[in-house]
Order: sequence, then structure tokens, then C-alpha cells
Amino acid sequence: MVNIAILGFGTVGGGVYEVISHANKKTLSEVNIKYILDLRTFPDHPLADRVTSDFDKILADETVSIVVETMGGTGAAYKFSLAALQAGKSVVTSNKACVDKYGAELERVAVENGAVYLYEASVGGGIPVIAPLKDCFTGDDILRVAGILNGTTNYILTHMQSEGKTLEEALKIAQELGYAEADPHADLAGLDSARKIAILAGIAFDKYISYESVSYIEGIENVTSEDIRLAEEMGCVIRLIAKAEKKGDKASLLVAPHLVASTSLFHAIREAFNAVSVTGSAVGEVVFYGQGAGSLPTAAAVCADIARVASGTGVTTVRKECEADFLVEATDEKFVTLKNGKKYRYFE
Ligand code: HSE
Repeated sequence: MVNIAILGFGTVGGGVYEVISHANKKTLSEVNIKYILDLRTFPDHPLADRVTSDFDKILADETVSIVVETMGGTGAAYKFSLAALQAGKSVVTSNKACVDKYGAELERVAVENGAVYLYEASVGGGIPVIAPLKDCFTGDDILRVAGILNGTTNYILTHMQSEGKTLEEALKIAQELGYAEADPHADLAGLDSARKIAILAGIAFDKYISYESVSYIEGIENVTSEDIRLAEEMGCVIRLIAKAEKKGDKASLLVAPHLVASTSLFHAIREAFNAVSVTGSAVGEVVFYGQGAGSLPTAAAVCADIARVASGTGVTTVRKECEADFLVEATDEKFVTLKNGKKYRYFE
């Protein structure tokens, strides 16, 4: 039996419980949720007796080998992850903010203590993209990673287009469905996508890259229903796209709403779905698609990491720090002007 502790029993933490309690795969059925850390109590929950607000109890319990951090934020989540890794416990997380800000340190501490730090669920919700990026492209030179990486904004753009909803109306539903961040500004302003593309680019280019190095971040706040209609007249949709491109020994990262051509696979990405396109110099383009947000899809990715740690196949390696001159501003961007005079980047 592998004992785990879930830190934070919200949308994702609750989903992890659901996935584990319905698991029939050998590895996950041998996982026992020994603790749930939360400031709230859940008196009617089947695991009510395992809920605690005392992290030290979890840390001191040598039978707990995996800590599942689904708290979010970079305060207690970082502190608890660091302490767990220092104690030799592996940490699995969906917390992109913590991975972005402290991933380099947490990976180093994990390796020093014979533990692993895995974060498949931090990008792309339920889509397996981090593990394939780490494992399946190692023989190739990755030239570009591009993605629709935020389910909330994709949901909003889809419903502004198909049902004529306002941004606020569509956001409210996305919040009710559990897609949006606690502070949806991170979704709308493109910060969530920026964190995710920085994480993917870091793995793709084998360096630690922070979202603070993303040279241009624009969200969807200024996308209007009129823009969406005019884009449609041109056979396009508007989507929030995050891109990381490498040219020679330089790379550029950006997040912005793009006009997506009907020839692109991204044209078909609707609702809270995400898509990630990875272009390798030998393999060409490979596309990953699936549910990018929500309780169970995200929990499925967390559980894949739990299973990796439990079976001993999860590995953490330490990457290089990013050289100061590696990241540059994006050039060669293609723009299209709508009939109302607004300019959008073009994605085909
Ligand atoms: N708020 C995020 C999104 C959640 O909408 O994509 C998943 O990371």
C-alpha cells in the first residue's frame, strides 16, 4: 500500500479522491489516502476522519511517501512542498504558479533527497503533455510549442461566438463549472497561459523559464463580440494562443488572442478544451488535444503522476538555468486587420 496525503480538498483535490476511489488499475488501487489537509472539515465525507489542518502530522508520518499538492498559490503550497521533498517524500501537483516560481528549486531538492517532483496536471488539464515532452521528444530538437492552454478563456470565446454571450456571462458559467482560477483575472489577462507556456518551453528547451520572461502577454479582455463576428466572416475564430519558438540559439515566448485560420487544427478547439502543438525538427508537428480544465480531467493527470511515483517510473531531472540572452522578443509575427480596424496576430 502507498500512503498519500492530499493538501487542499477543493476542485482538483476532490477530483483526485474521486479518481482514486473508482480506480481499477493495479497501481492506483494500491494507493491509500491517509490524510486530507484542509482548513475546512468535511463531516459528511466518507474520509472525514482523515481530514486534518496539521501539516506537521503529515510530515512526521514516515508511512506517507507521496504528498499531492492541490492547494494552489505560492505561499503554503511552496512551503509544504519544500518540506515534504526535504523529508524525502515525493510531491505531485497541479499548481502551475508554484511550478513556475519554485520549480527549479523544488526539482533540485527532490533530486537531492531521492524524491520526485511531478506536475503533469499543471498544464493542459487532463492532456498528457509534460510526460511526452520529457520522454518522447528527447531525440529531436523542439522548434516550437504552441497551445490553447486556458480552458476558461476558450470556453468564453466559444460561447461569445456560438450563443452571443457577453464575456461576463460566459465567465460566470466557466466559474460555476470549476474551470476558472480563484481570481479569474489570471485567466482573462493571459497570465495562466503564460505560466503554462513557460513551463512547456522550459521542458522543451531544457532550461528553467519563468513566465516573467514571456515577452508579450495579452489576454482576451479587449476581444469583442464584433471582433468575433468579423473574424467569422473571414472564416476564422479568435483563440487565446500561447507560443514558444526557437530560432538558432534564441527563443521567444508570447501569449495573445489570435485569428485562427480554418486550416489550423486549433480552429476546431471549443469549450474548455485545450490543444498543444509541438513541432520537432525531425518529427514535424504533433498535436495533443483534450479537456484542459475541470475537476476530473485535472485529477486524472494528477493521478497519472501518483501512479508514476508509486510504480517507481516517475523521474525528476535538474535542468540548466536559462541564459540571460536566450529569450528575445518575437519577430516575424503575421498580423491581420479586421474590418473594424483592429489588428490580430494570425495563426495557421
Ligand atoms: N483556470 C485554468 C483554465 C484551470 O481555465 O485553464 C486549468 O489550469
